[in-house]
Amino acid sequence: MARLCRAFLCLVLVFCAAGYGAAWKEAEFRKCHQSKFCKDVRERAAAWARGEGGSNLEVKGLRVTDEGRVAARLIPGGNEQQALVLELSAYRDGIVRTKVAEENALRKRFELPDVVVADFEAKRLKIDRIAEKDGASVVELSGYDVIIQHKPFLIQVQRGGDLVLSINSKNLFEIEHLRVKKEGDDWEDSFRSHTDNRPYGPQTVSFDVSFHGSDHVYGIPERATSFALKPTKGPSINNHEPYRLFNLDVFEYLDESPFGLYGSIPVMVSHSKKGTTGFFLLNAAEMQIDVLAPGWEHMGIEQVVDASSSDKVLTSQNEEKRVDSHWIVESGVFDAFVFVGPSPKDVVTQYCAVTGTSAIPQLFSTAYHQCRWNYKDEADVAGVDAGFDEYDIPYDTIWLDIEHTDGKKYFTWDKNLFPNPKEMQNKIAAKGRHMVTIVDPHMKRDDGYSLHKEATSHGYYVKDRDGKDFDGWCWPGASSYLDMLNSEVRSWWANKFSYSNYVGSTPILYIWNDMNEPSVFNGPEATMPKDAIHYGGVEHRDLHNAYGYYFHMGSVQGLLKREGGKDRPFVLSRAIFAGTQKVGAIWTGDNTADWKHVRISVPMLLALGVTGIANAGADVGGFFGNPDPEMLTRWYQLGTYYPFFRGHGHLDTKRREPWLFGEPYTSLMREAISARYQILPYVYTLFKEASVTGVPLVRPLWMEFPEDEATFARDDEFLLGPSLLVHGVYSEGAKSEMVYFPGNETWYDVKSGTTFPGGKEMEIPVSLQSGIPVYQRAGTIIPKKLRHRRSSTQMLNDPYTLVVALDSNYEAEGELYIDDGKTYEFEKGAFIHRRFKFVKGKLTSTNLAPSKSNPKKFTSPCLVERIVIMGVRARDLVTGKGAVVEGERWIQTDIGAPSLIPGAHSSALILRLPNVRIADDWSIKLG
Ligand code: GLC
Repeated sequence: MARLCRAFLCLVLVFCAAGYGAAWKEAEFRKCHQSKFCKDVRERAAAWARGEGGSNLEVKGLRVTDEGRVAARLIPGGNEQQALVLELSAYRDGIVRTKVAEENALRKRFELPDVVVADFEAKRLKIDRIAEKDGASVVELSGYDVIIQHKPFLIQVQRGGDLVLSINSKNLFEIEHLRVKKEGDDWEDSFRSHTDNRPYGPQTVSFDVSFHGSDHVYGIPERATSFALKPTKGPSINNHEPYRLFNLDVFEYLDESPFGLYGSIPVMVSHSKKGTTGFFLLNAAEMQIDVLAPGWEHMGIEQVVDASSSDKVLTSQNEEKRVDSHWIVESGVFDAFVFVGPSPKDVVTQYCAVTGTSAIPQLFSTAYHQCRWNYKDEADVAGVDAGFDEYDIPYDTIWLDIEHTDGKKYFTWDKNLFPNPKEMQNKIAAKGRHMVTIVDPHMKRDDGYSLHKEATSHGYYVKDRDGKDFDGWCWPGASSYLDMLNSEVRSWWANKFSYSNYVGSTPILYIWNDMNEPSVFNGPEATMPKDAIHYGGVEHRDLHNAYGYYFHMGSVQGLLKREGGKDRPFVLSRAIFAGTQKVGAIWTGDNTADWKHVRISVPMLLALGVTGIANAGADVGGFFGNPDPEMLTRWYQLGTYYPFFRGHGHLDTKRREPWLFGEPYTSLMREAISARYQILPYVYTLFKEASVTGVPLVRPLWMEFPEDEATFARDDEFLLGPSLLVHGVYSEGAKSEMVYFPGNETWYDVKSGTTFPGGKEMEIPVSLQSGIPVYQRAGTIIPKKLRHRRSSTQMLNDPYTLVVALDSNYEAEGELYIDDGKTYEFEKGAFIHRRFKFVKGKLTSTNLAPSKSNPKKFTSPCLVERIVIMGVRARDLVTGKGAVVEGERWIQTDIGAPSLIPGAHSSALILRLPNVRIADDWSIKLG
């Protein structure tokens, strides 16, 4: 190991010399003015907006095609030679797609395949008529209209008569006409020591989108910044950089920075009391997006600006509420989708109808994961595993980072450290636990590595601009990168996950894809040069943001193949793109053990959620640095409610397994992790919902309370599903937190049952022992499992507890979804889906699964062992000596239950051992 460490240190030194090292910070990355395409368009746009020219597109020949789409030509400034063609199509459930490309392009522009789901076209509506109104063409659709103004070209979307979104209201729409290089044209673009040849010259796609009626826009992850996006351009704007979408391995990313990180989802959402609207640009090239504040056009590209009040609302009281945005895309086509809502959930569902809903995870992967760079050897793994048992802390999965391999050759094991990988996994499996190993996309250029030899001989690597296999630096040293755009390469890759190819793997082994931006230590901005070449001559420039998505997809295909399509795969990815949700889970990369990073994880997950990524988490404890026990405890208390819940830390950090900190910390971390296990039935039900509708687990408050304006800019708390309000504690020694309770309903503290009225912000006292503030919404029922076990697998047949939180009408309802937690048998009907309803003093469980005869059935022997009813009226408490399972017998009741809810609010009634089966129809009436 010492030798290994020395080798690693040498490597680090080499990288430092090459500009990759500890000092690697924001300055190492391009700013807008350091990229020719961004600088040119941004400057041009400001001039146009001041009235100095403009794209001046005019619509000509607008018609409805035989296929039922709207088609037209767009002529820039009367220049027929540079005509564009527009195609607009409408889809069921409030989706409009608009494509614009050159009529006569010098070269076919790249259109990204594999993101739009296969059955999307089946949802297309046939447009048969266009109305003409005031010189504009109007497509009337159900609940909304699309208006195309001819001169200048303008698209407006009106919902119920209200203008909600427009494209080109600022006259900035431009597709740079591809041209032949002329003598004296300087197309090269240099940054630091790298030069991008830009062989096809300038080819940007840029345009403005305005969201009307709103003060706020959200989305375009991934970045560590506020959820409601602050303006980037305008007077009084502190940060002058646009939001960048360019997947990068950003070392030690800052906690409050608009800078783009590992993933890119070009989706922006606006929300107001009147409704929610979404916009998605299907394009994987680098994008820079300005959110414009009034007066922005007077700001020059390099102008120094006043640093005050950058986060005030974007429009003044007297003006029409609107948020303008300017999108600058380096290459590719304009292929945009508008989602007309009107509700926040509708918008996510509409977006996921295009790019896919969230993959339903295996149950084990929704429980707690223990990771570290690195668990050193088999003895270390066994020790950590035993530690969890000794300290009675549940966990499901232990992870192995890059050091487990033989010289960073993936699918291999370091023979000294991990001589018996199968035996090691079998021991873990015996406790119902799982293992994850890392498989990165860089392939060690080592002739002794069979995968490298095969990939080389088949020509499966991405090529450099000279046509040779691209050769860059990553963990193994000299590396090449598989060209995952090519489905043949993905299929070859997928075969490598078979048990015979991945020697030492067993059925409990799952996968972690990291560095798939891709990270190239010695490349420009630590990634692949844009002029590298993919399958079919596609430039990396066009594909960059989707490279990691393709790699993730290939690995998922591998695990599916390994199990003959039977079991659901689990592959965690760092790089993301639109549609990643249908592939698998993701995490927010290398954060830091710093209170600000605990805090920023919440808006990061919120932004991912509204753009469809339901299964995401942040490294609990912070990847870099050493969390003190208080911070780590607070982070666990918050991580309990992350959809993906994993503790992880850097190689250089101190060990931080929860028992290393002594009391009270170990007990508090145990309590936080156990709290996750208790709500697993609820969490799994939410994952099921996300797999059907796309609606995320972590929701902004306005997703459930769309009319509550106090929630629109709030990102220090979130809802987990419809029923739990979660507010982290984000500072050392905090004695209280200001918690906002949304809506008009009551909220019940999950620990004490104490109630709080909605529509108010209140100062809530907190201590480390009290945990973070978490509340159950009145009117909901949450299914839980309260028995303490070692892993989720061991909870399979455990009985349920239903926690009923009554609203002011004395009613509540909730759902529970159960299946085998592993396979796709649910697709054939092998699942249980129950609705619980408490009305008029009676709790009823009914079947929600479709009644049609399903070829497969899933049943569960599990009982309900406890029903907790919060908010019971005093007279029921007095008279309610018992409850009756209808037609059966009296069951024992008791009021409050110190063991379950310490200091319980007196109106919590607990029904013990009703012993009804979770799978059956039943009802229970308060006596
Ligand atoms: C990257 C990952 C991190 C991992 C490390 C070593 O920095 O983001 O999670 O531990 O690489 O593989």
